[in-house]
Amino acid sequence: MSVSTSIELDPFKLAQALSGLNFVAGEFRPAASGKTFAVNNPATGQEVARAPFSEKADVDVAVAAAKKAQKEWAKLPARNRGKLVAECGRVLSEHVEELGRLIALETGKALRTESRIEASVLADMFVFFGGLASELKGETVPFHPDMMTMTVREPVGVVGAIIPWNVPLLLMAMKAAAALVAGNAVVVKSAEEAPLTVLRVTQIMNTVLPSGLFSILAGFGPECGAPLVEHPDVKKVTFTGSVETGKIVYKAAAEKLIPVTLELGGKSPMIICADADMDKAVAGAIAGMRFTRQGQSCTASSRIFVHESIHDEFVARVREKVDAMVMGDPLDEKTDIGTIISDGQFDRVKSYIKLGRETKGATEIVLSAMPTDAKLDKGFFVQPRIFTGITNNDRIAREEIFGPVCCVIKWSDFDEVIAAANDSDYGLAATIWTTNLKMAMDATRRLEAGFVQVNQNLVVQPNLSYGGVKASGLGKEASLESMLEHFTHKKTIIINMQ
Ligand code: NAI
Ligand code: MG
Repeated sequence: MSVSTSIELDPFKLAQALSGLNFVAGEFRPAASGKTFAVNNPATGQEVARAPFSEKADVDVAVAAAKKAQKEWAKLPARNRGKLVAECGRVLSEHVEELGRLIALETGKALRTESRIEASVLADMFVFFGGLASELKGETVPFHPDMMTMTVREPVGVVGAIIPWNVPLLLMAMKAAAALVAGNAVVVKSAEEAPLTVLRVTQIMNTVLPSGLFSILAGFGPECGAPLVEHPDVKKVTFTGSVETGKIVYKAAAEKLIPVTLELGGKSPMIICADADMDKAVAGAIAGMRFTRQGQSCTASSRIFVHESIHDEFVARVREKVDAMVMGDPLDEKTDIGTIISDGQFDRVKSYIKLGRETKGATEIVLSAMPTDAKLDKGFFVQPRIFTGITNNDRIAREEIFGPVCCVIKWSDFDEVIAAANDSDYGLAATIWTTNLKMAMDATRRLEAGFVQVNQNLVVQPNLSYGGVKASGLGKEASLESMLEHFTHKKTIIINMQ
């Protein structure tokens, strides 16, 4: 089976071309059973392609090919591997527009504000990690004058990567590029809601990489994800998704005593102080809440603590700005806000909105407007929401909603707001807006989170370690540290020279 690698800007055509296929052991193939499932356009509810319903037999083929390819790959000089990983980035950068359109089609994320940007960061990640190859260095240890004592970094072998649907390109790239440059092979299980664009990326990467080194399987958690984690030749698992599934993965990895990296989401606080630059804080809160992505972000600033003296003005300003945003067809350049990913997530988000309405003291503020185009009637559109008048103890402020629902909570005392920000099961990201340097520094030290920002709202960046504490997960991604600590092990070598 072959699909052209020529750039295809019609995402509907590309989805059809990729329909029913995995990319395993260097080639496109369907699942061994021939079973498939539907891939739907969340903006219309219509099926755009099928994806293989992969199971253990498919995992076995992918892992066997990966194991074989990894042995040769690990023997290459690290710099040569780095060149090939960076070359993946260069080739992928030629496909940014194509990949952006396809990811917009299958996830419902708006092309202009979200999907095209994700496709370009994907390429950057490969270029960044490719350049780190020469950092796979060891140390010499002054242990004894008659002994040459040193450490070397060795790859772990075959890595199983399980990714979610919210930012599949970026999350796959952070795992794959780091693992590959360190000398590992990778088998990815894509998310059942978004299998197409990552499949296209795998095909493109395979024009550069040796056959079998990088494979991807579409499928569901129990039937495909679990056998990948449990496979005896998978020596490391890297996972992004829910806390619930993260624990299942962690337990299965514990049975085999293999290392895991887990990125499990959050309920990230943003603190806005009375002296904050209001224009910047409002724009930052809207960006931080990821309203353009329907709030479907692990780092979404979904708990915004606003000083009581500016609370009403802040809410009014956010309202004005989000009201001006256009919700509509993700592929339309005019659209700011696309859809929720799936019917399941749509129902989940709706149930949290109901919970918000039922919360004592809560006021619901509904923002923007539903699309009017009749062809989008069955799309999973949800108007962004702010709930005010709630407390940090309410369920709506404690559980990850993964939708466009933002809790705005008043504060008056700095110590109390830091305590409230930290009073969460999660600890992924945190942000503070203030022009007082002392307060900012104090907060950065006291906030329990892996990624703390002052007066800005960057998303994940190559070179900045990314990962959470508490229920937000284990380990770091996107940086040199992530490659060394999560995709290699250190061997100590002692040579007696006497
Ligand atoms: P999930 O954690 O169930 O799915 C993530 C990935 O894990 C998917 O590829 C899925 O097929 C796989 N998976 C599921 N069960 C598995 C198993 N037993 N063994 C191995 N792999 C398995 O998340 P889901 O159901 O898509 O979303 C539910 C909630 O999880 C969201 O509402 C959100 O709160 C959270 N979430 C957090 C993400 C993050 O970026 N940290 C991403 C996606 C979801
Ligand atoms: Mg799930």
